[in-house]
Amino acid sequence: MKILITGANGFLGHYLVESLLNTNYSIIATGKGNSRLSFSADNFLYTEMDFTNAASVNEIFDTYNPEIVIHAGAMSKPDECELNKDLAYNVNVQGSINLLEAAKLHNCFFSFISTDFIFDGEKGNYREEDLPAPVNFYGQTKLFAEEHVKEYKGDWNIIRTILVYGKPNSGRQNLLTIIKRKLETKEGYNVFDDQIRTPTYVGDLANGIITAITKKATGVFHISGNEELSPYEMGCKTADYLGLNKSLLRKITKSDLKEIAIRPPITGFDISKAKSLLNYQPISFDEGLIKTFSN
Ligand SMILES: NC(=O)c1ccc[n+]([C@@H]2O[C@H](COP(=O)([O-])OP(=O)(O)OC[C@H]3O[C@@H](n4cnc5c(N)ncnc54)[C@H](OP(=O)(O)O)[C@@H]3O)[C@@H](O)[C@H]2O)c1
Repeated sequence: MKILITGANGFLGHYLVESLLNTNYSIIATGKGNSRLSFSADNFLYTEMDFTNAASVNEIFDTYNPEIVIHAGAMSKPDECELNKDLAYNVNVQGSINLLEAAKLHNCFFSFISTDFIFDGEKGNYREEDLPAPVNFYGQTKLFAEEHVKEYKGDWNIIRTILVYGKPNSGRQNLLTIIKRKLETKEGYNVFDDQIRTPTYVGDLANGIITAITKKATGVFHISGNEELSPYEMGCKTADYLGLNKSLLRKITKSDLKEIAIRPPITGFDISKAKSLLNYQPISFDEGLIKTFSN
């Protein structure tokens, strides 16, 4: 089966492609501009596709005839979305519409990667059916895109995830690798202690998505780790694991720092649906640290 992946040069996209190399799927990896993937395999090709360009999307779909689409590409940084709302809408919403329209013509299974930021963060431990209420523009665009996916006339799923970490194989850093660098350079780092997340190891997420598409599981799924941690707690665990000085981590709360995009305070997912329907079993945060920092 042919799978088209968007955002293949990104953090998750890189892991998705790598995890699919040893399967029977044919991978059509797409991204903005040139490939930053160094894979070479019979079942892998890369082609440039800016999904905000509907003509380009249609041309790529006509050329490669994918049967499954994993839409992992996005403008994924909340502050950038808040500062560039038109661009964020175009990339995260219009781009998704372009892909859904092309996917329908080719009768594809459509998998959309979404976020805990569609919730307001007042409740925590969110289930798939909880009511969305985004508090920043990034979350709003992802929710708009979800609404379009739910209207898709073919089969679809939405995989929501939370604060993804792991080895930055694509070059894009994440909270753990940023903390490592800031502590190694003795610069220190501000980390929130009044936000709660269930951080997700990127390899678990990639495997969960691949299981979901292989099972053709439709509907919404929450995929994350299963430990509730604040970024500060994640930072302390990272420092301890690496033997770095955790006193360089500055514990902050919402009142200490005015963020460009407001963050939902307490998210975290109830992942029981993914556990029972996808046999999803995330590794612990301690195991995730080993995977992130081992050679
Ligand atoms: N990372 C997290 O903590 C997290 C948490 C919740 C949900 N998510 C969701 O998970 C998905 C993957 O995130 P990620 O961490 O892998 O983000 P990422 O590293 O920023 O990857 C996103 C990719 O999308 C590409 N892209 C942006 N605009 C594009 C366009 N118009 N056409 C084609 N490609 C485009 C980017 O290209 P360039 O690299 O060239 O800019 C980038 O490679 C996203 O949907 C995100 O919303 C991520």
